[in-house]
Amino acid sequence: ETGCFTYDVGFTATAACKSAITYIDGDAGVLLYRGYPIEQLAKNSSFLEVAYLLMNGELPSKTEFDTFEHEVTHHTMMHEAFRTFLYGFRHDAHPMAMMVGMLGSMASFYHGSLDLEDAEQRRLAAIRLIAKVPTIAAACYRYSIGWPIRYPKNNLEFTTRFLHMMKEVPSEPLELNPVAAKALDLLFILHADHEQNASTSTVRLVGSTGANPYACVAAGVAALWGPAHGGANEAVLQMLEEIGRPENVGSAVAKAKDKESGFRLMGFGHRVYKNFDPRAKIIREMCHQVLNELGVNDPLLEVAMKLEVAALKDEYFVQRKLYPNVDFYSGIIYKALGIPTEMFTVMFAIARTAGWVSHWLEQQTDPEAKIGRPRQIYTGYAERDYTALDKR
Ligand code: SDX
Repeated sequence: ETGCFTYDVGFTATAACKSAITYIDGDAGVLLYRGYPIEQLAKNSSFLEVAYLLMNGELPSKTEFDTFEHEVTHHTMMHEAFRTFLYGFRHDAHPMAMMVGMLGSMASFYHGSLDLEDAEQRRLAAIRLIAKVPTIAAACYRYSIGWPIRYPKNNLEFTTRFLHMMKEVPSEPLELNPVAAKALDLLFILHADHEQNASTSTVRLVGSTGANPYACVAAGVAALWGPAHGGANEAVLQMLEEIGRPENVGSAVAKAKDKESGFRLMGFGHRVYKNFDPRAKIIREMCHQVLNELGVNDPLLEVAMKLEVAALKDEYFVQRKLYPNVDFYSGIIYKALGIPTEMFTVMFAIARTAGWVSHWLEQQTDPEAKIGRPRQIYTGYAERDYTALDKR
């Protein structure tokens, strides 16, 4: 009716890119980082070791890890001018909005990393991002609650250092529970990379133009923020709080099946996994253990478990192969660790920075890499002539 034409484009799905970093088998529920099963890394590794693995392709020797850890530790400080930039935001800005701005501004502090031909500058940019994103994340949070920013303490390991920067208050010594750091480090491992998800594809698309690595990661943070992607962990908690009690689960499932409602079960479904997300299985088990060890009794855990059982029994979800994904249980643990809801996606960004910089580095050294240029199926008008104003 609009005179448009349709044509057979002979459209075949083409892979976005080649990558050796992460492998997913969505039907079997398999996730491998550089060939290592996520279950084994979750059990035996640390986030910083996984970051090294993703970046370099191999698990580090003791010397290699110590060198890497020393480098990351000595790049955690941010330039003092960052404060001025940060203090320009409204206090009530969402931390993810601040993160997009702060990471983009890193490009204005490190001119050397504009020379992408220099392998050492590329590697240094990756190290700086892994090291500084937690410092910036903690600063954004503290600014949003009116607390003074805390400097990173180099005598602490990566995740403990982040928790210290986020939670230490000037007026009293911080008692950090080691269970909290261990649980958060495991969540960082599980969120570190995931093949060509929306935010990683964004980083690669921006990187394919030769843009500055800090600008690439800022674009990745923006993509991650959406509730269909990384923002889902925050949306899951809001959904569970709205459901409120186990007896309301049935109506929530019914509402999620009614297209008109526009309501979806956040934390359910996945573009690739048509089986259980292996990360969701690990996090579900972690939930019980962490809440027990922290002595936290969160009624939302019972709501989540009831919701999972009800959905997995329902034909609508079974037919569409909708299973809990990585975001379904993670928010319950973040909440038990005392991390506020608006910081949940920031946690995801801290972890995924390891994956983003690894994909960016891989792309920069790929001789076949070209500028990203997705095509489209045109559905507009066929060619037509201009009509003079007095004839319209
Ligand atoms: C992440 O890509 C990655 O790897 C991402 C990630 C990573 O590590 O980077 O794994 C992290 O982003 C996990 C996903 C977090 N998002 C959510 O939990 C939001 C809720 N889920 C969805 O909106 C949805 O499931 C997606 C976006 C995750 C996946 O969407 P798809 O594969 O494009 O599925 P679809 O939208 O085409 O839906 C297929 C059908 C539809 O019904 P029909 O049209 O066939 O009748 O399933 C329905 C949808 O309406 N559906 C849901 C649903 N998800 C899909 N119905 C109810 N609740 C849901 N959550």
